[in-house]
Amino acid sequence: MTDKARVSLIVNGERVDREVERGRSLLRFLREELGLVGAKDGCGKGQCGACTVLVDGRPRRSCLLKAERLSGSRILTIEGLSGPEGMHPIQSAFVREGAVQCGFCTPGMIMATKALLDRVADPSEAEIAAALRDNLCRCTGYAAIKRAVRSAAAELGAASAAASSALRGPAPRPEELGRGAFGASVPRKDAPAKVLGKPIYAMDVADLRARAEAEAERPLFGKMLFSERAHARIRSIDTSKAEAAEGVARVLTARDLPGLNAFGLFVPQQPVFADREALYLGEVLAVALAETLEQAEAARNLIEVDYEDLPILDSAEENLREGSPLLHPGTKDNIVHETHVRKGLYASEDGAAAAFSHAAVVVEGEYETQAVEHAYLETESCLALPDGDGGVTVMTGNQGSEDYRSMIARSLALGADKVRVVLTACGGGFGGKEEPTVQIQAALGAVLCRRPVRISLTREESIRTSTKRHPMRIRMRHAASSEGKILAVESRVVADAGAYISQTVPVVFRSAVTAAGPYEVESVRADSYGVYTHRNPSGAFRGFGSTQASFACEAQMDRIARALGLEAAELRRRNALAPGLRTSTGQVLDEGAAYLGTLEAAAEALSRMRAELASSAPGRALGFGLASSYKNVGIGTGLADGAGAIVGIEAEGRILVRVGAADMGQGSDTVAAQIAAEALGLPYRLVDVLACDTRSCPDGGMTTASRQTYVTGNAVKMAAEALRSALSSVFPPEDRLRELDAAGLRGLRDRALAAGLGVSAEGRYLPPRTFAHRTSAALESGESDSALDIHYAYCFASAAVAVEVDPETGIARALRLCLAQDVGKAVNPMSVAGQIEGAAAMGLGYALSENFAAADRGLLTDDLRKLGVPRIGDIPPIEAIIVESPQPGGPYGAKGMGEVGLNPVAPAISNAIFDALGVRLRSLPMTPDKVLAAIRAPREGEGAAKFEEEPGDAR
Ligand code: FES
Ligand code: FES
Repeated sequence: MTDKARVSLIVNGERVDREVERGRSLLRFLREELGLVGAKDGCGKGQCGACTVLVDGRPRRSCLLKAERLSGSRILTIEGLSGPEGMHPIQSAFVREGAVQCGFCTPGMIMATKALLDRVADPSEAEIAAALRDNLCRCTGYAAIKRAVRSAAAELGAASAAASSALRGPAPRPEELGRGAFGASVPRKDAPAKVLGKPIYAMDVADLRARAEAEAERPLFGKMLFSERAHARIRSIDTSKAEAAEGVARVLTARDLPGLNAFGLFVPQQPVFADREALYLGEVLAVALAETLEQAEAARNLIEVDYEDLPILDSAEENLREGSPLLHPGTKDNIVHETHVRKGLYASEDGAAAAFSHAAVVVEGEYETQAVEHAYLETESCLALPDGDGGVTVMTGNQGSEDYRSMIARSLALGADKVRVVLTACGGGFGGKEEPTVQIQAALGAVLCRRPVRISLTREESIRTSTKRHPMRIRMRHAASSEGKILAVESRVVADAGAYISQTVPVVFRSAVTAAGPYEVESVRADSYGVYTHRNPSGAFRGFGSTQASFACEAQMDRIARALGLEAAELRRRNALAPGLRTSTGQVLDEGAAYLGTLEAAAEALSRMRAELASSAPGRALGFGLASSYKNVGIGTGLADGAGAIVGIEAEGRILVRVGAADMGQGSDTVAAQIAAEALGLPYRLVDVLACDTRSCPDGGMTTASRQTYVTGNAVKMAAEALRSALSSVFPPEDRLRELDAAGLRGLRDRALAAGLGVSAEGRYLPPRTFAHRTSAALESGESDSALDIHYAYCFASAAVAVEVDPETGIARALRLCLAQDVGKAVNPMSVAGQIEGAAAMGLGYALSENFAAADRGLLTDDLRKLGVPRIGDIPPIEAIIVESPQPGGPYGAKGMGEVGLNPVAPAISNAIFDALGVRLRSLPMTPDKVLAAIRAPREGEGAAKFEEEPGDAR
């Protein structure tokens, strides 16, 4: 019996007759056989909707359909939606409303929307949610997507569909903006390609490359073998059977690596290939390279590993104890990093007693946060291409091409000039793509086999090997005066760092320095420890340690307010950090610190929610909660934190801005284009951005710590101003700039060259000096305040939430969520609102449903559903409030803002659940079983310790 079948379909209006492998999914058929790569593979098992296409007019997840069964069907993909006249109204609505961030979900969302609007001209909120229930988005919080659906419905003729976003106000003529481009809600630079389903992601490039005529041009498929043990000695890895299998080109292991068998952004520690010991379940042992995916998979399954099981040490608390067995021999203990903060009375040993002696209220509690998967919709993927001269080009989504380049070069023992890393579109990162996962191995395979090599992880593989948010156990004690002044805060954090260092150092650091929250507190003692365990390495994740600390701190604040009989906002108001006040580390804040603006906005929203939601549904309890948070902008602490930019006029009459800031969906390309347009005074529509190609872009450092708007934004401004100044003798007058078109730019370029002037300029920006953190927040004699500047800027956020809880089932549901955020000046209000809404949704998942869990021999949460990633129906109406207060030193007053919005959501929900039920949830996520346990636990005595409210000690 043949393993192929004939299939005859109409695809985007064209007849297709093909032989197809039996069992081949429609998704793979479209992408690999027809080169239609608009439909994306985000999970391969029907859980994300990124692969949605229309089959006979109905939205279907193409990864679940077998191509051979579809003969006679009419298929419509994203590529078939636009016509010669341009984008379909749904596509243009997604661009206009800012519904596109990383864009990986976008084609699927648009196709599901098409099916909805074909059926229902003017859909209700519930109908939109039902139609998009199978489609996940990790970036937008679904808010802009809902707006886009309504906007498209309006454009397609539904009279009542409300189309415009309240945030944007009357539409400017954004494409024409020159000076004035800054601060306008212009469409994102990357959105058109994303809504059209263009081949822009690494997977797309690889799939198209696989259609090359010549075999040598076609990439080999790589399949990774991961450890089956969380901790084991590796006695041997036998690859002989795999090497002899059909189609196999090579099987890579540690012995093939000519350079350093270790990588890591902070310290090169994690093996590229584990060869002696496996320290967690995602450890890469080998990679099979073969002509087809199936052959690579089959070969991978033939690799034999002889393990000797070793004890699994998965408790950070126990591994912290003195005398615990060491996870990394040669270290003195299992502590990856520790940070200590001492302020005020804690300068002396007996500070604790003194700090608490005058307290009217003392509140103490223990809190627990979980491991969380980033769940970017694009799994780790790359295409490595040998250059014929021993070098290699690696095309991949990432958060910092230069760091990838140096790690690849170091492991392959190549000069940095032999390695080029090209950023493709990146389908989400959130911190999880700061370190390589598949890129070093693919580059090695390409160099050794002299063939292109592609590796794309399945969703299960991605979850298995990637870093997670640090789970933390946090103990806090607060002392407050009867007037509601926080007198002292003590914090002790034990963070599970997992098997390797990854980004534990800065995460643990931030959990300590932000432990006291956005408040001026006289006396602070914070001790944070990151500890090795045999679990996934914990790494960077939006919020970076301040997220976990906020959960504990803001529950404590709620308890203090209740003990004192103060409104939640009033207690915070009395302690709020503001310009001129000192943080826990002694830094004096500058004029950019707009915490109070966020607090007042959230407090006002809370009052509105209380008025509008006066009573709960029968049998449900209604509660309202408020919380705040702050974190740093930029790396700071005296470390390298600069960025570069090059702005030039291209021969075809366009401005090209080259930067080293990776746009993983947050919109940094658009920020760069807006700043360049503003500084040059030229129309935004004439500006293009090229980011993170190590051959032609300057280094911008890692896209992390909310730093790129500030540092790369300043570099772009410098470069654009330098270019304009250099061309001043030939530059058109101000009043003619907005009308300039490509021909005009070409003329400007010609005039400049004729005058012997350069047509590009470079900016290299170094942010204000910062200093390494030291334990004591006190100045030493002769020092000025700036000696305690560990960061050059901070950002703040406050959340208000209304929650409904069903005491029978324990299900807590957010009914409304308002998030107010301090952003300096909003470069692009629509994009800024999108970041706030996305952070709000991620915060909701963190609060109520998301968790990553592994057992000793396998994952417990190996897919998107089990991870609890929120769907459209889980997200309530989100009100995003932008609080503006120009940041000194920021480009036109802007600063980074992508992370902090996530932080106050979980504590606001915990506070709202207490408001509703009188029980305090101290462990994340606040799942129904935990809510029920809290309700049912006796309120006093043993067994109640974890979840029971501990009333403040009124003295
Ligand atoms: S790839 Fe088909 S649903 Fe995720
Ligand atoms: S824009 Fe939806 S997943 Fe990124």
